[in-house]
Amino acid sequence: MLPRSVAVVHANDIIATNADGTAAYCPNSDLFYLSGVEQEETVLLLAPDAEEARDREILFIREPTPLSKLWDGHKLSKEEARALSGIERVEWVSAFPGVFRSAMNEMENVYLNLNEHARAVIEADNRDARFVHETRRQYPLHAYHRLARLLRIQRLVKSPDEVDLIRKAAEITRDGFLSVAKLIRPGINECEVEAEFAREFIRRRGRFAFLPIVASGKNSCSLHYVANDQACRKGDVLLLDLAASYANYNADVTRTFPVSGKFSRRQREVYNAVLRVMEESIRGLCPGKSPKLWHKEGQALMQEELLQLGLISQREVKRQDVLNPALRRYFPHGLGHPLGLDVHDVIEPGLPIAEGWVMTVEPGIYIPEEGFGIRLEQDVLVGKVANTVLTADIPVEAELVEEIMHAAPKRAAGVRKR
Ligand code: GLY
Ligand code: MN
Repeated sequence: MLPRSVAVVHANDIIATNADGTAAYCPNSDLFYLSGVEQEETVLLLAPDAEEARDREILFIREPTPLSKLWDGHKLSKEEARALSGIERVEWVSAFPGVFRSAMNEMENVYLNLNEHARAVIEADNRDARFVHETRRQYPLHAYHRLARLLRIQRLVKSPDEVDLIRKAAEITRDGFLSVAKLIRPGINECEVEAEFAREFIRRRGRFAFLPIVASGKNSCSLHYVANDQACRKGDVLLLDLAASYANYNADVTRTFPVSGKFSRRQREVYNAVLRVMEESIRGLCPGKSPKLWHKEGQALMQEELLQLGLISQREVKRQDVLNPALRRYFPHGLGHPLGLDVHDVIEPGLPIAEGWVMTVEPGIYIPEEGFGIRLEQDVLVGKVANTVLTADIPVEAELVEEIMHAAPKRAAGVRKR
């Protein structure tokens, strides 16, 4: 931040659903990143140049009351918040307006936070956004800056502790896949497969990182299919794009299984094409390369594979519109995205790939006219000389996928392993 700056980050709102219902609480990723605090109504104020040391870093938390204890159970005490965050000065949130006024009086620059994700669809303001409006109204003469830009640059490079948490999420995800592999058979419903993942994730203190995609047959051609309520049929594929989160850090994994335990010749052909693009794109994730170039290289690899598969022709390629190349008919999405506290994690436009980034690599080929799609996805830690695939122990080669389906007798969903 510039000299004489103050920054403020808020917790997320509790989102209302219908009647008096609320959605499961989703902690604010930036607040959690900076403070380790997940609790609603929390505010973090940073003013590193404040004259008094005690004014430089302050955490505000909601004050527990007998009523909140009765209905919501335990909330953080000041001591607990101090120990959790490492921030010495913890105040009740009712003190925030006065403290903020003093900070504004002392400071020149204000860094406020907004969800600036390129693909965010925002219909209602959150606490940070409301605070931006209100602060600018009350203090129109300060210099305002985007905290999101600074946080994006920081959050892109994962610390060893963050990588460990992503690894843990990947480990829980792996156990879900290994457990589910033994259940998949003709006749099983997509919802039974989802339930088995839930069983495996929840008992390991994991959660679904995002709405799970359990897509059999032609459903595998809908990129974000989440109905998960159809029976899996003999001869079809089952595309599973789902993963666990652990301690707010996410994995993001896709595997595609043959429902009958063996891929057809055509399915395997397409599968191996996707696999080759994925493996080459993992190798292509190099520090210093722009994510756009990496994506373009992936598209070039995919174009070659689609030509080989007879899905597109040289003629089409020659005549194609560079902004909408022929390959997009079968590979219409991005090659991958940063992963971390958010599944589609923050990225700073123009910044080259760097050591410490965690990226998903997820090519796919979707052929509605043949009734199936194949997507494969790994989570990759970018290293200085070599990359580490954090999801490497979830089998991905077609033969290994078939093998784990046959590794043990089929058991009914819900029956516990001994
Ligand atoms: N795994 C879902 C997605 O990346 O969109
Ligand atoms: Mn993904």
